[in-house]
Amino acid sequence: MLNKQRVTKNIIKSFSENKGFPVYTAKELQRMYSVFGVDPKSMDRRVFDTESLSHHTQAEVIKLIKMMNIAKDDLVLDAGCGNGAPTRLIAKLCGCKIIGFDINPDQIEKAIDCDRLEGVTHLIERKIKDVHNLDFTEETFDKIFHNETICHWMDKKVALAKLYTALKKGGIMGFHDWVRGYKGDLNDAGGDFPGTYAEGIWFQNNIAETIQLLERTGFTVLHCEDTTDIVDRSLRVRLRELQMSKVYLKGAPEEYFYKTIRYFKVMIGTHYDYLRYNRFLCKK
Ligand SMILES: C[S@@+](CC[C@H](N)C(=O)[O-])C[C@H]1O[C@@H](n2cnc3c(N)ncnc32)[C@H](O)[C@@H]1O
Repeated sequence: MLNKQRVTKNIIKSFSENKGFPVYTAKELQRMYSVFGVDPKSMDRRVFDTESLSHHTQAEVIKLIKMMNIAKDDLVLDAGCGNGAPTRLIAKLCGCKIIGFDINPDQIEKAIDCDRLEGVTHLIERKIKDVHNLDFTEETFDKIFHNETICHWMDKKVALAKLYTALKKGGIMGFHDWVRGYKGDLNDAGGDFPGTYAEGIWFQNNIAETIQLLERTGFTVLHCEDTTDIVDRSLRVRLRELQMSKVYLKGAPEEYFYKTIRYFKVMIGTHYDYLRYNRFLCKK
């Protein structure tokens, strides 16, 4: 049985070491964008889709942000923000203030560098925090967003209660989740998957369990949508685009190119059986 410390160590390892997939630095991204001919300050989809750790594409994340109805004077929390691509997208799209936190100091450092590269530092504050130990003042945030991180939270009851406390009454929480597949979760996936991430970092629920957890915390679930077909299709398109892309090879180290192709193939191989995706919207 993995204890909390070991899980945290393995989560940090998975997203720091370019293990199964590249986690780019701002310097590497800057070089890639200059080769691609893309302005990092823009909302060009290639910025988000290159740097983010998200399997939902920019278009799908924008759908979620729009459903949350984020206004310019809202204060937003991005939980488990990683290297911060979704936070920057919210900042560019809505012009509001956002606090993004992650358990991984390395990711936060990369996020801060990328915020600078993309000209959004005036809107974003970054913090190193574990969602299970949040200490924000009660009713601080108008909206809470998270993208593809809840599947790593060991004690969702505690984590969701912390987020609920930090959200204002009437506030909205929107998120994308990696849920269990028809045969199990990613801890059970075989084939080429083992080794892509460090072990024991998956705590995927099924959709009914997540709804129950949200409701027991006090949230009203407004929307719940299975996005597996959408993500499966778009990951296949991204894989094909990458395989055909000569420009990527010019902009990034060759090792990253082949690592990303392998990663997309491996993850597509887990779809439906061990990994499905979901979009949730709920209200306090
Ligand atoms: C798949 S990445 C998604 C990152 C980002 N949300 C995105 O969409 O690009 C999952 C992130 O969740 C973070 N995470 C996992 N457990 C966490 C916890 N207990 N508290 C805060 N962050 C956590 C990881 O460090 C990682 O950066």
